[in-house]
Amino acid sequence: MSEFTSESKAQTESRKDAAMWTSTFPLLALEYPRVPAEERMTHTIVIFGASGDLTSRKLVPALYELYRKKRLAGPARIVGFSRTPFSHDAWRAKLADSTARFVGNHFDQATWNAFAGSLFYQAGDIERGETLAGLDAFLDELERGEAATRVYYLATAPEFYEPAVVNLGQAGMAQPSRGPRRIVVEKPFGSDRASARELNRVVHQVFSEQQVYRIDHYLGKETVQNLLVLRFANAIFEPIWNRNYVDWVEITAAESLAVGHRGGYYDKAGVLRDMFQNHLLQQLALTAMEAPARFAADFIRDEKVKVFRAIRPMRPKEVTADTVRGQYRGYRNEPGVAAASRTATFAAVKLRVDNWRWQGVPFFLRSGKVMSCATTQIVIQFRQPPHMLFEGERKGAGEANRLVIQIQPAEGIQLHFQTKVPDAEMQTRLTDLSFRFQDKFAGGMPDAYQRLLLDVMHGDASLFARADEVELAWGIVDPIQAVWDAGDAPRLLAYEPAAWGPEEATHWMHDQGRQWFDICPVL
Ligand SMILES: NC(=O)c1ccc[n+]([C@@H]2O[C@H](COP(=O)([O-])OP(=O)(O)OC[C@H]3O[C@@H](n4cnc5c(N)ncnc54)[C@H](OP(=O)(O)O)[C@@H]3O)[C@@H](O)[C@H]2O)c1
Repeated sequence: MSEFTSESKAQTESRKDAAMWTSTFPLLALEYPRVPAEERMTHTIVIFGASGDLTSRKLVPALYELYRKKRLAGPARIVGFSRTPFSHDAWRAKLADSTARFVGNHFDQATWNAFAGSLFYQAGDIERGETLAGLDAFLDELERGEAATRVYYLATAPEFYEPAVVNLGQAGMAQPSRGPRRIVVEKPFGSDRASARELNRVVHQVFSEQQVYRIDHYLGKETVQNLLVLRFANAIFEPIWNRNYVDWVEITAAESLAVGHRGGYYDKAGVLRDMFQNHLLQQLALTAMEAPARFAADFIRDEKVKVFRAIRPMRPKEVTADTVRGQYRGYRNEPGVAAASRTATFAAVKLRVDNWRWQGVPFFLRSGKVMSCATTQIVIQFRQPPHMLFEGERKGAGEANRLVIQIQPAEGIQLHFQTKVPDAEMQTRLTDLSFRFQDKFAGGMPDAYQRLLLDVMHGDASLFARADEVELAWGIVDPIQAVWDAGDAPRLLAYEPAAWGPEEATHWMHDQGRQWFDICPVL
């Protein structure tokens, strides 16, 4: 690990270099149609964790794409911060390689060169307050006294969130001066309710809630946002979106990959913390919530919070009956994983939403690693017609209407309904109507980080989790995790790679008179 001081030689060099770059290269001066001219303030995006995977795989490619598409809200500069020493040029060269890899044929060398002129790097240790004071001076120098919105993006391991926030506060970097100051916190936000509450407390000592953007990249996906459009911009779905017509709701996030290099983190977290507390519960909230009065951050978040409050907390005996946990064969041999690990890599959970709309409608949530295929989908399973007239319908019991909202890989919607088989008397068969974004809209689907980064720059927190939301979501997951950690019920079941989790999960669903929608991407 390198040593840093507030006025190190490296930083002095770095500043000289930055001054040269800012005078030689213009900022990324761009148009963004949604933003009024007076709000097109300069943005300084500071990425903590600049040498890491998220920065090179997601953040910088997303910013490059926004630049390429001329979508950035006004001029922007991007400053990377982490301990590894890089010159500005060395960081740019590293990111040129990774960005070319991750944006594929959208990479254009001339566009990259223009973009890269606004990338800067400052080496430092987030745990050492004096290096943040040095960073602040560097940012002031780049901004040259002009008004700028600063976005601090915490893309480091979670144990650095608290020291980063405290040190940003002590360096006076959270105070709005010459423009707003915002902070983006990556997942995981805490590892249980108590730690999330403590992190919120620390964050709120430095930043007001309006300055905080807790990211869940699933919410940046087009289909997740489209769920709100589907429900609330169409009149035909809402009347049937309730206990009178819906039999059950199923939300599956299946990953085909193993834990890979994340074994060390994953073995401590497990599937509930990694997938349920954030992605799955966020999708549940958007599926189950009431229409907000306005499409604005707090209106949406108030409705999501009401859903979390309505989810019945699980007592230990319900955890035993209403959850299934599994671990894929071979998991214990993964790097970073304990030889006798009891961490679940698969879970199925039945939740009940105790309100007028959803009383009696179970929500089945399921996620696992090394499953048959990679797909994330929300299935609204409707009830059977009250009276079955046709032979085919009677034979095909269980094949009632179904709406499949596919979040990934392809984004879109499929409606399943019965139709008459031609030239076969009154035989019926389930068929479908499909909509895929990529068939109807040109230009490809943007990565979720593009939308989320833009929203932070605009100060729109609609797609970010509020403090109370995060704590409530942990409150749903914690009782399950506690029972799992305490004993053997339910049993930790082994499952074969490339299956839909343990076979028992299928039997468990059958025992409830239901069956999983185990179809690899429908679209
Ligand atoms: N990777 C993904 O796709 C992904 C997806 C969703 C969420 N996330 C979340 O994003 C965060 C980052 O993940 P990652 O995969 O990018 O991790 P990573 O590759 O391990 O990167 C961590 C970064 O933090 C820096 N860092 C560590 N200690 C530091 C310190 N004391 N001061 C300053 N910088 C320090 C590291 O750089 P130095 O060693 O050079 O200091 C490195 O740049 C995690 O919280 C993760 O859960 C990641």
